[in-house]
Amino acid sequence: MSNPVAVITGASGGIGEQIAVGLADAGATVIMVARSLERLSWASERVAHSVPGASIEIDPVDFADLAEVRALAQRLIPRQPSVVVSNAAVIAPLDDRTPAGLHRTLAVNHLAPYLLLRLLAANLPAAARRFIVVGASPRALARVPVDLDDLNTETRRGLGWPPSFRPFVAYARTKNMNTMFVYAMAQRLAGTATTINGAHPGIIKGTGLGRHDRGALKLFGSTLNLFTPASEAGAQTPLWLATDPAVEGVTGSFFVDRTATSTASHTTDPVRIEALWRESARLVGMPVGGDRDEAPDADHQG
Ligand SMILES: NC(=O)c1ccc[n+]([C@@H]2O[C@H](COP(=O)([O-])OP(=O)(O)OC[C@H]3O[C@@H](n4cnc5c(N)ncnc54)[C@H](OP(=O)(O)O)[C@@H]3O)[C@@H](O)[C@H]2O)c1
Repeated sequence: MSNPVAVITGASGGIGEQIAVGLADAGATVIMVARSLERLSWASERVAHSVPGASIEIDPVDFADLAEVRALAQRLIPRQPSVVVSNAAVIAPLDDRTPAGLHRTLAVNHLAPYLLLRLLAANLPAAARRFIVVGASPRALARVPVDLDDLNTETRRGLGWPPSFRPFVAYARTKNMNTMFVYAMAQRLAGTATTINGAHPGIIKGTGLGRHDRGALKLFGSTLNLFTPASEAGAQTPLWLATDPAVEGVTGSFFVDRTATSTASHTTDPVRIEALWRESARLVGMPVGGDRDEAPDADHQG
């Protein structure tokens, strides 16, 4: 890694913690970001134990508060990270709203990384950088297109049955937003040295993702856990995208098991992608921006 500062969000446990282990092992100074200071501290101790001599920092940030995300970006810009892995996510109850009125799932899973990566891309000096966005299974997500007229799940339409699954459907929509954001951002970063790709970590047991699950969803999650691998496996594809010379310069793709994979047509439709970008810009209070104005090292900047 040429400029070895790596940022990983959602690093206080689960897959993110294992990505932190891998990045520390690769020689990076790792900045671990998550909401809970206590969980982050424990996780950083475990990473230090796994990688003796590792350079680890923690930065507690609540991604549900977009002002905190902006402040994080300001702290990270002078550090000039060469890798940023956007991994934080939550499956919040439908009535879990931030003080700004956003569904917590939308704010944490989509709006926070949208804001953070746009701010970093626009303010970091030209250099090779890799942004990785941890998404979810393209096959499963094909059934849950983003409702572009209701990003914030105000109407609750189309969330299906049984009711205990509805927070998961809202979550799944945000994971499709992650994919659409990767495609949109890659287009805007074209011609720069910054790449952005998405990754499905696999279905992974023992993480904190199901911490709010209830009823049939909880039972479903517990049953899945009997058959799925642990977090180390989930870290593999994001880590490979962050570190492997084989993917130098590769951008705008979504990977499953280190293989570029197509995603549903509702995630690749340019009209839908642009609509999501514009509505996200409005919700985070950023200008929409032009095609190529996101990075200072863009070829056509003038
Ligand atoms: N596990 C799976 O089977 C699976 C499958 C497909 C995709 N994924 C994706 O993999 C990624 C990691 O998930 P995981 O399974 O490892 O779940 P996890 O153990 O629950 O990890 C989620 C991370 O996100 C952080 N986070 C949650 N709310 C936050 C907030 N408001 N502000 C800042 N950080 C916040 C958590 O920090 P705190 O502990 O401080 O709250 C935690 O570090 C997610 O993007 C998820 O969508 C997982």
